[in-house]
Amino acid sequence: MIYHIPWIYAPVRTVLAIWHQLTKSEIPELAKCSVLMKERSRVEETICAMQRAGAGSLQVISDFDMTLTRFAHNGTRVPTTHNILDNRLLIDEDCTKKMRELLNTYYPIEIDAGRTAEEKLPLMVKWWTEVHELLIQQRIRKDMLAKAVKESSAVLRDGYKLFFDHLTEQQVPLMIFSAGVGDVLEEVIRQNHVFYPNVHIISNYMDFDQTGALRAFKGQLIHSFNKREGALSHAAGLRELQGRPNVLLLGDSLGDLTMADGVSEHQNILTIGFLNDKVLGFIPERTKLISTITTPRASPLPFPCPRPPSA
Ligand code: TMP
Ligand code: MG
Repeated sequence: MIYHIPWIYAPVRTVLAIWHQLTKSEIPELAKCSVLMKERSRVEETICAMQRAGAGSLQVISDFDMTLTRFAHNGTRVPTTHNILDNRLLIDEDCTKKMRELLNTYYPIEIDAGRTAEEKLPLMVKWWTEVHELLIQQRIRKDMLAKAVKESSAVLRDGYKLFFDHLTEQQVPLMIFSAGVGDVLEEVIRQNHVFYPNVHIISNYMDFDQTGALRAFKGQLIHSFNKREGALSHAAGLRELQGRPNVLLLGDSLGDLTMADGVSEHQNILTIGFLNDKVLGFIPERTKLISTITTPRASPLPFPCPRPPSA
């Protein structure tokens, strides 16, 4: 009937637009000016699709150092898992000096947006290999790791408790994919009381001899730019992740963007990057992913709260 009355189109359209605005479920976090997105509507669509599918379809894949841990706290840098080992209980002064020199040489390369991942790859292998050789020479003691973590200033990102608790309550698997040191990483989350059964860790694990002294690192080396290979070989084998086509991916390095490559038949991937240290490649315009959100270094962890399918 109203189709025959042209003057009524405009007001009806206006009322419909207002109604749409009023009923739209805005996500307040996305409205913050510190949050950058390539295409907000796509991000919202992805979040809504993931919420509709519910917790049973979700898996979370996260980097560790400077993603689950803070970048800085009280004005100083928070140590990475490698840097937590910089403790006289574990390594001597000479080793500290050499590890710092390597960090000063290679970390700027790791975060250099002007270099390609292909250029960085052999340099990262060199960095990690040299550091691991130094640590092996020190014959680090397994029984001293917990004390070193306790004495360190490692801090998990704000909101971590809610994040870990909620994922475990909803039985959502959390895969932590780290190029750090797995034994140290485990100890950090254990001391923060969030090492729950839904947490799976893929990282560089230490191999200790019978006396409890470090003699090697187990398995294939993981550095910041070969997470894709690790994702393909390890993640695909984890039964718990199967049948969960929606992925929340958290990272701080461009190499972290490949951590979901092992997820077969994914439906939605929401990538959240923490813009810690001039890692300009993580700015959404520069990534190939449309659903990328970038938040500043001090942002809290997201609160993943998928609604049940009926909601
Ligand atoms: P992530 O994959 O958990 O972020 O861990 C990798 C980070 O570890 C990477 O950003 C560089 C850092 N790192 C150190 O801080 N010191 C080191 O000696 C090495 C090899 C890496
Ligand atoms: Mg990191």
